[in-house]
Amino acid sequence: MEIFIGVESTAHTFGVGVVDSSGRVLANVKDSYTSADGGMIPDKVALHHKEVAERIREEAFSVAGIAWGDVSFIAYSAGPGLDPALWAGYNIVKVWSEKEGKKIVGVNHCCAHLSIGKVWNKLEDACYLYVSGVNTQVIVETPPTVAGREGKYLIIGETLDIGLGNMLDKFGRVLGLGFPAGAAMEKLALQGKYVELPYAVKGMDVSFSGILTKVEQMYKSGKISKEDACFSVQETAFAMCTEVVERAMAHTGKKELLLVGGVGANMRFCSMLQTMCEERGAKFFKVPMDLAGDQGAMIAWEGFLRRDSYGDVSIKPHWRTDEV
Ligand code: ATP
Ligand code: FE2
Repeated sequence: MEIFIGVESTAHTFGVGVVDSSGRVLANVKDSYTSADGGMIPDKVALHHKEVAERIREEAFSVAGIAWGDVSFIAYSAGPGLDPALWAGYNIVKVWSEKEGKKIVGVNHCCAHLSIGKVWNKLEDACYLYVSGVNTQVIVETPPTVAGREGKYLIIGETLDIGLGNMLDKFGRVLGLGFPAGAAMEKLALQGKYVELPYAVKGMDVSFSGILTKVEQMYKSGKISKEDACFSVQETAFAMCTEVVERAMAHTGKKELLLVGGVGANMRFCSMLQTMCEERGAKFFKVPMDLAGDQGAMIAWEGFLRRDSYGDVSIKPHWRTDEV
């Protein structure tokens, strides 16, 4: 059995995961940068990663009960992400690699979110919905063109403007809910009723800026309560995503749906997707909390899958899911 480690540093989290070649997570330790106002200053994030790196690695090794001698390679998050945070992670990995004589494998952070969900749920042929702050993507996987290689993740639908999480957070800021606002909005929505907002599905793509502009206007002019606003934003945006995912599943014949990304924590969203899947005889899957957010285990596993295709790729701040 091969053992390898993964290092995550694309944004506020620095994490080290230890995984084996059966996909078992032996350790997954992380530390996230926080600030009182909820903002994220890139240089401070980078400094945070440098400061915690060695301690996090030691903790991960101790939880997994391994030493450097057991590690076959080091995977790291090459992108997409914040430049200074990515550089911090890459530089740390380079030092470890040279000191311990280990190969490094640069991986795509978004693909890693999908791959860890896939192995944990033992999925074979899923349709994926990736909804985080920045990303809103409907993804399917193509079979590998080269035997023994991983397939490609194809984006077949996405947001034409802002990500779903960012839209919720931006409106949350208007409501004074702090950052991130998704969970607080979910609570308020429980007391709300539906008011019509712009429903924008364009082919396989969605657009959220119209909802944001309209609900902001309505709220600021006193035409809608906080509760009704949250409920209506959720219903409209989640229904748009559900429609596009359903079309993706109908066209591709996929019978499994995997939801990944922070917005996937929303119970109302999950129940909408669950109902859609049940109605078409498909199965709905999620990722357990400890593998849902940013962490090193997913980077380790994605590194294992791509170890023959990728090596030291430096950092790739704008690396798209479908360019892997
Ligand atoms: P990535 O780098 O993968 O794009 P990210 O850092 O942008 O990740 P995640 O941590 O995956 O994002 O997700 C954060 C988003 O999830 C925030 O926009 C937050 O408001 C949203 N979120 C968290 N909990 C809930 C919830 N219960 N309902 C709706 N949105 C939620
Ligand atoms: Fe992420």
